[in-house]
Amino acid sequence: MTDTAVVPEDVTEETVTDAVVDSFAGTPDGRLRDLLTAVVRHLHAAVREVEPTIAEWEAAIDFLTRTGQTCDPTRQEFVLLSDVLGVSALVENINHRKVAGATEATVLGPFHMTESPVRANGDTIDLVGGREPCVVTGRVLTTAGTPIPGAVVDVWQADEDGFYDVQVPDRQPAGNGRGLFTTDDQGRFWFTTVVPSYYPIPTDGPVGQLLGATARHPNRPAHIHFIAEAPGHVPVTTHIFVAGSAYLDSDAVFAVKRSLVRDFEPVDDPGSAARFGVANPFRHAEIDLVVQAVAG
Ligand SMILES: [Fe+2]
Repeated sequence: MTDTAVVPEDVTEETVTDAVVDSFAGTPDGRLRDLLTAVVRHLHAAVREVEPTIAEWEAAIDFLTRTGQTCDPTRQEFVLLSDVLGVSALVENINHRKVAGATEATVLGPFHMTESPVRANGDTIDLVGGREPCVVTGRVLTTAGTPIPGAVVDVWQADEDGFYDVQVPDRQPAGNGRGLFTTDDQGRFWFTTVVPSYYPIPTDGPVGQLLGATARHPNRPAHIHFIAEAPGHVPVTTHIFVAGSAYLDSDAVFAVKRSLVRDFEPVDDPGSAARFGVANPFRHAEIDLVVQAVAG
């Protein structure tokens, strides 16, 4: 009798990548198989390039562990990590390429954590009484320029000191700086708010440590977030940036597009102020959100 047992070959530094990729060969979902294959090949390539020590690898695991542990219902450290690594911006840019002609998209960011309160056009989203009123007006349009009635516009922003409601629940009621609006029969939406400040992304967690260790500043230029959704159209997730804001040229999350920078113009017109229900003078910004029809 001869021993016919197969002696397996060692998995070596040279063969481990193919061995892992081969292990996914039976994945029923082809997209998942492609994704895992690419992630493993690139991750292994990075490891081969830097040849981490065991201690460095353990530090990396610890960093990711702490990133997860820092997440809670109002804090999303993994989105923040994706943002500061430029992955969020890259994903947005790739997907926007497929809807050319629409308003440029930019990152969701980590503060879209809570559902925005439903509000009527003309309502204020400044529940604490800011120093200077600001009116934001806009429309939701097709790429042909046709207004879309009944489109939903989700808005969220930081206050004049650079804080979102979820960051300072002792100073801002839940829903401050947030609103869910529906466009009128001419595709219009409008609301009252304050001009947001630039702000640092949260630096008290692992992502802040990464920025500190790499001598990067944590600041984002002043902006207001929007998501516009209309039936039969691709939703657009975007911001408007405040012209002249600090950090427009060095956004910590790589999200600035020149097409999204808006003047928040000073307006001194008691008639307009009365129409919008704000004190005179006030500031005014305008954004038309152009959405592309879902392909055929
Ligand atoms: Fe933001």
